[in-house]
Amino acid sequence: MPKDTLSVIDNRTGKQYELPIESGTIRAVDLRQIKLGDGDQGLETYDPGFLNTAACRSAISFIDGDKGILRYRGYPIEQLAERSTFLETAYLLLNGELPSAAELDSWVFNITHHTIVHESIKKFIDGFHHDAHPMGMFVSTVAALSTFYPEAKHIQDETSRRNQIFRLIAKTPTLAAFAHRHSVGLPYAYPDNDLSYTGNFLNMMFKTTEVKYTPNKTLERALDVLLILHADHEQNCSTSAMRGVGSSHADPYSAMAAAAAALYGPLHGGANEEVLRTLREIGSKDRIPAYIDRVKRGEFRLFGFGHRIYKNYDPRATIIKRIAEEVFEVTGKNPLIDIAVELERIALQDDYFVSRKLYPNVDFYSGIIYEAMKFPIDMFPVLFAIGRTPGWLAQWQEMLLDKDQKIARPRQIYTGPDKRDYVAIENRG
Ligand code: SDX
Repeated sequence: MPKDTLSVIDNRTGKQYELPIESGTIRAVDLRQIKLGDGDQGLETYDPGFLNTAACRSAISFIDGDKGILRYRGYPIEQLAERSTFLETAYLLLNGELPSAAELDSWVFNITHHTIVHESIKKFIDGFHHDAHPMGMFVSTVAALSTFYPEAKHIQDETSRRNQIFRLIAKTPTLAAFAHRHSVGLPYAYPDNDLSYTGNFLNMMFKTTEVKYTPNKTLERALDVLLILHADHEQNCSTSAMRGVGSSHADPYSAMAAAAAALYGPLHGGANEEVLRTLREIGSKDRIPAYIDRVKRGEFRLFGFGHRIYKNYDPRATIIKRIAEEVFEVTGKNPLIDIAVELERIALQDDYFVSRKLYPNVDFYSGIIYEAMKFPIDMFPVLFAIGRTPGWLAQWQEMLLDKDQKIARPRQIYTGPDKRDYVAIENRG
């Protein structure tokens, strides 16, 4: 029976080493024994962007990038999108199992009754400029929440963790909606606990003078599914930020503000906003070839395309395309969908994209739906953050409970100058 080891010969010394292979990996610290001699700290791995480095063990999400598979706690994303709700999926991500009816009722009750934010939070939002980006307001107010719940620092206390998890899942839609209302000069619309989680978000976003807001059931369900699709995704950039900041034992609000900041970037969750700007800039199908040529010349990236892990179609994009049709039944068709579909068709016939295995990702079609639902374009990454909140929290909690984990502190290859002495300013060139 072949041994689960890697035999390595260091040709600099002729020495051979046996490195254990576990779960398809070798432990980077096992390379430290490979030295030139005393005083040598041993080999390290160099992996900018972590293209081939597992930073943790996780039981939360599973992706097979070649087959276009995504599962949350083993359940295929297609089945959850079809049969689950966002809050039930959040429970699954955080607890590892689907809830019983009683467990779900208690979970929904707790989250529903944490949707209100401290009135002082409005002072933070009121302080932003009228054209402040909602994601900047969201990141700031998530961090500000840490000052209202000092007990959140007790990250090893399970009850405190559970309460902050309730608060963060419950309050992100409120913070998001308040940021939007500030951006458009509307008074804040408060939570309505008679509504579902997603229905209440639509209420806080779009309620005007009616006494009670009634969400459109088709749009409420479509948005709930979109939140399910965004809920978790292995060790993506923002989740790595959540784990990294959380590893210093900062409170979950501060860690999640860092995660949301990472998500804001156009290479990550900010891509959905950029896709809409791309489709608007292209403007018509006949201008697609010229745009594609500019992408191939390296002038800019085709936002909504490509993925570090998926080298096949992002399964979430497939589901989102289907949801678009349901939403358009209510809102009327967003003409940008025709440009997006044609852009996808042309790109997937072009060797530049095919050779690099660049397919539509979760961000390619989501913005078209959001726009049809009357969400402003700069709210798109905020919607992504609401959906990813339970995933960030589940990953944060898993990191805290993982005995293997320590404070994140990568090594480096030093490329700076060797030792040199200070030069008085009058002697500098
Ligand atoms: C999300 O990690 C996750 O799971 C993220 C996410 C989640 O749920 O958390 O799935 C959400 O962030 C989706 C991705 C959204 N971002 C975008 O749509 C931005 C556009 N896409 C990219 O910039 C890019 O594809 C990334 C960032 C998504 C992945 O980048 P990688 O894996 O680091 O790949 P790379 O930059 O090394 O690119 C490999 C090659 C390069 O060409 P060559 O140097 O080989 O010639 O592919 C090219 C890149 O130039 N390329 C693209 C491209 N993406 C990669 N060229 C044009 N357009 C693109 N979109």
